[in-house]
Amino acid sequence: MDKIVIKGGEPLRGSIAISGAKNAALPLMAAALLTDQALVLQNIPMLADVMTMAKLLRQHGVALELPNGHPELVMQADAITNLVAPYDLVRTMRASVLVLGPLLARFGEAKVSLPGGCAIGTRPIDLHLKVLEAMGAEILLTEGYVHATAPDGLKGCEFQFDTVSVGATENAVMAASLAQGVTVLHNAAREPEVADLCRCLVAMGAKIEGIDTSNLTITGVAKLNGATHRVVADRIEAGSFMAAAAITGGHLKLEGIDPHIMGAVTQKFMEAGVKIETGDNYLIAQGNGLTGIDIMTQPYPGFPTDMQAQSMAMLALAKGASMITETIFENRYMHVPELVRMGANIVVQGRSAIIRGVEKLNSAEVMATDLRASLSLVIAALAAQGETTIHRIYHLDRGYEKLEQKLSAVGARIERIREKELA
Ligand code: EPZ
Repeated sequence: MDKIVIKGGEPLRGSIAISGAKNAALPLMAAALLTDQALVLQNIPMLADVMTMAKLLRQHGVALELPNGHPELVMQADAITNLVAPYDLVRTMRASVLVLGPLLARFGEAKVSLPGGCAIGTRPIDLHLKVLEAMGAEILLTEGYVHATAPDGLKGCEFQFDTVSVGATENAVMAASLAQGVTVLHNAAREPEVADLCRCLVAMGAKIEGIDTSNLTITGVAKLNGATHRVVADRIEAGSFMAAAAITGGHLKLEGIDPHIMGAVTQKFMEAGVKIETGDNYLIAQGNGLTGIDIMTQPYPGFPTDMQAQSMAMLALAKGASMITETIFENRYMHVPELVRMGANIVVQGRSAIIRGVEKLNSAEVMATDLRASLSLVIAALAAQGETTIHRIYHLDRGYEKLEQKLSAVGARIERIREKELA
């Protein structure tokens, strides 16, 4: 397994082009199943999770050209041969469950492995199943698979999500786009990635109102067409680099992103003392001393849970204490023991963590446990004295494109060591 070695202490200076968002690209790829025409996605990030989704779609029968060089992905689902999403793929990437709605809506049947838990929590899919049942689907759970059928097609419904769920909202919107009649979703997720999926579906001929709000009205159509859509920029990648600029006392210009989609991150980081400037499609973050703040993760436009670990690393060197409360996932503090090994002063009490700022962080051998946790270790290592080694960085490769190149280009001393796979 590869590892990353970082020599800390360098302020990061320069500009970084922000890639397309992983959490938009994955549902957008699943949307290719809704039509027999070509769906072209521009600004696709070349990530491990995108490759996994490509593999999943190919085994359904989707023709798919992955970009090599130019980030444009062409998909065509005009010869779907298989309606089963197998366990060996779904267990490696929970977002595989996003093929359920499109397959059911277009073909009247889908068999998708239950995703199983992951490092950050149990992450059930009960809301995905409830909303599809409300549209008339029959759902059977057999041998670890969801077997969904809708022999007479799906019908529009009115549905209230009791918990805001990004994935369940995305499955529901895709299914409702081809259902008979009107579907109204209340308490729907409003993340920019959900809005980006809705905009792509509208370009494909779907009728969706209330985009960017928590009430979506979808009027089903008989058929969807192909389209060309540009994947929205990755606000979590941008936020991660903002934290890196802040903790190293650097100055980074993050390009190719609309600052309005950062939600509460910009406000909270300014409260912590980060100097932030914004333009039409860029953000500038400058570190000039950090003070402790309180953060509570919430659905968008609140502070994103996907920025929790990275913010915790940044606040480890702030003056004073911070409190972070993770309200979305029940076990998203796997990065804490690793940060503590680097000298951070963090105590977890239930769903909250108290971070007391320290003078400095020390290098150490640490281990990545999940995608965003691995970035929090990179952020800490960039500020730590000495050389830090981060193991199991396959977690990083799931969600960050060309991370070493992007960070080296702004002054980080970072190197990937490819470890020979044991024979
Ligand atoms: C999406 O996951 C993102 N992944 C996650 O990003 C992100 O952390 C999460 O939304 C919250 O913003 C993708 O978009 C591919 P949820 P998702 O359904 O859709 C509970 C990353 O690091 N829930 O909004 O799986 C669930 O357990 C990843 O990029 C149910 O109870 O998240 C959680 O507590 C990590 N029943 C809460 O809702 C359900 O049927 C939010 O989950 C579905 C969810």
